[in-house]
Amino acid sequence: MRPLPGALGVAAAAALWLLLLLLPRTRADEHEHTYQDKEEVVLWMNTVGPYHNRQETYKYFSLPFCVGSKKSISHYHETLGEALQGVELEFSGLDIKFKDDVMPATYCEIDLDKEKRDAFVYAIKNHYWYQMYIDDLPIWGIVGEADENGEDYYLWTYKKLEIGFNGNRIVDVNLTSEGKVKLVPNTKIQMSYSVKWKKSDVKFEDRFDKYLDPSFFQHRIHWFSIFNSFMMVIFLVGLVSMILMRTLRKDYARYSKEEEMDDMDRDLGDEYGWKQVHGDVFRPSSHPLIFSSLIGSGCQIFAVSLIVIIVAMIEDLYTERGSMLSTAIFVYAATSPVNGYFGGSLYARQGGRRWIKQMFIGAFLIPAMVCGTAFFINFIAIYYHASRAIPFGTMVAVCCICFFVILPLNLVGTILGRNLSGQPNFPCRVNAVPRPIPEKKWFMEPAVIVCLGGILPFGSIFIEMQWTSFLSAASTAIYVYMYSFYYYFFKTKMYGLFQTSFYFGYMAVFSTALGIMCGAIGYMGTSAFVRKIYTNVKID
Ligand SMILES: *[C@@H]1O[C@H](CO)[C@@H](O)[C@H](O)[C@H]1NC(C)=O
Repeated sequence: MRPLPGALGVAAAAALWLLLLLLPRTRADEHEHTYQDKEEVVLWMNTVGPYHNRQETYKYFSLPFCVGSKKSISHYHETLGEALQGVELEFSGLDIKFKDDVMPATYCEIDLDKEKRDAFVYAIKNHYWYQMYIDDLPIWGIVGEADENGEDYYLWTYKKLEIGFNGNRIVDVNLTSEGKVKLVPNTKIQMSYSVKWKKSDVKFEDRFDKYLDPSFFQHRIHWFSIFNSFMMVIFLVGLVSMILMRTLRKDYARYSKEEEMDDMDRDLGDEYGWKQVHGDVFRPSSHPLIFSSLIGSGCQIFAVSLIVIIVAMIEDLYTERGSMLSTAIFVYAATSPVNGYFGGSLYARQGGRRWIKQMFIGAFLIPAMVCGTAFFINFIAIYYHASRAIPFGTMVAVCCICFFVILPLNLVGTILGRNLSGQPNFPCRVNAVPRPIPEKKWFMEPAVIVCLGGILPFGSIFIEMQWTSFLSAASTAIYVYMYSFYYYFFKTKMYGLFQTSFYFGYMAVFSTALGIMCGAIGYMGTSAFVRKIYTNVKID
């Protein structure tokens, strides 16, 4: 291997430094989650939005709620993940101190004119609810209620907070909304709150358990179906490999018998079975540039999903706002060399010459796809003034990550890949002239091959499958996307342009990413298989 050029080393160092910056930052406030008696506890107002459209959220103070008199930190420093998920915390102005009960007290007054009333009525009609945070614990409350005939609208004006503490930590919060007040224009509405502190036995580590769906872990059905599909996969793999093994053994036996016959007895030029396509099997695919970029990205997505799942299992990622997304971005940036390595080496093996172009396409395929969708949705979000709109600074940050972290790391990976495994080392040489694929119509369908037991097994399809091995595995994604349509129309009550574009946009990104991942795995598997069977046979 050639020594890496000096410029590359500098680029790698810069990338590493930026990666360190990216690491989820520790917060000065609230981070310890421990309080002294009478220490300030901050109630953050997050979002408000329709109950049936969980993704459509607006700033809490986009409704004409009033702020308490206490002035404190006005805006919360958010992490990248939070910014992307539309978390927008603002201080409520409520005076809350650790282990210090507050009797019901008015904290502010809403001067209800016609305009404000209309805003509240709209929110109540659409079943708006709001979300707050106290010490990272989420709290939900309903904005108001309509009476049965839908003429009068009522606002809940009294927030009764019950906070459970264990030692010097907050472990439990309950909110009760009371004080229904009819919305009449040109009146004043008093908002009030009370805080009651209670000793609780909930352990600090377990305080998020009540937000997890307990039925998931209790339902036997889930475990049963997971176990079921697992067994199914094992069974099918066993079946297919048994059939393939038998066929292959028979073929090998016949090939070696032919070897022993002298030339006169041999049917000249009449090779049999998958051996006859040996000259074409390792022919480069039709669009090596895109193909190797897709394979590289697929490998990277696979690595990212694996790492994020493992991290989520080890650490309780759900306990901190936006940490899952931050981690995913971080891991994605950090695994860029994987992309460069697989994409770059495959491209080199396929004899591609424009490797810089391939590296750019490979590096930016997924980011461009995600950012493009996000950009499009952002337009709609800005139009609706939703809190999901991604702030400009965050967009710049994401672009910087792409150019200064992902690209250099990809370069490292690509160069490593080209140097370490860029040489074509196929077990048999490639014919100059592509030959027609024999009887391909029979073998287009993998199911047919398995059934026929393979007179002309996998090898011949593999020509068809240089892309096909990728696409057939990737088709899973299409089913997933189809299911998402079904889910949208029959299982949810989502509505509105914003919600629809949000849902379908991100589902499309998800499905495509899944498709690329499955496709890459499928390709890797088939190519390993084909390489194996051709290594074991002597080609003359
Ligand atoms: C909150 O409500 C739950 C369920 O009603 C109850 O078990 C828990 O003790 C309450 N916590 C506090 C702090 O009041």
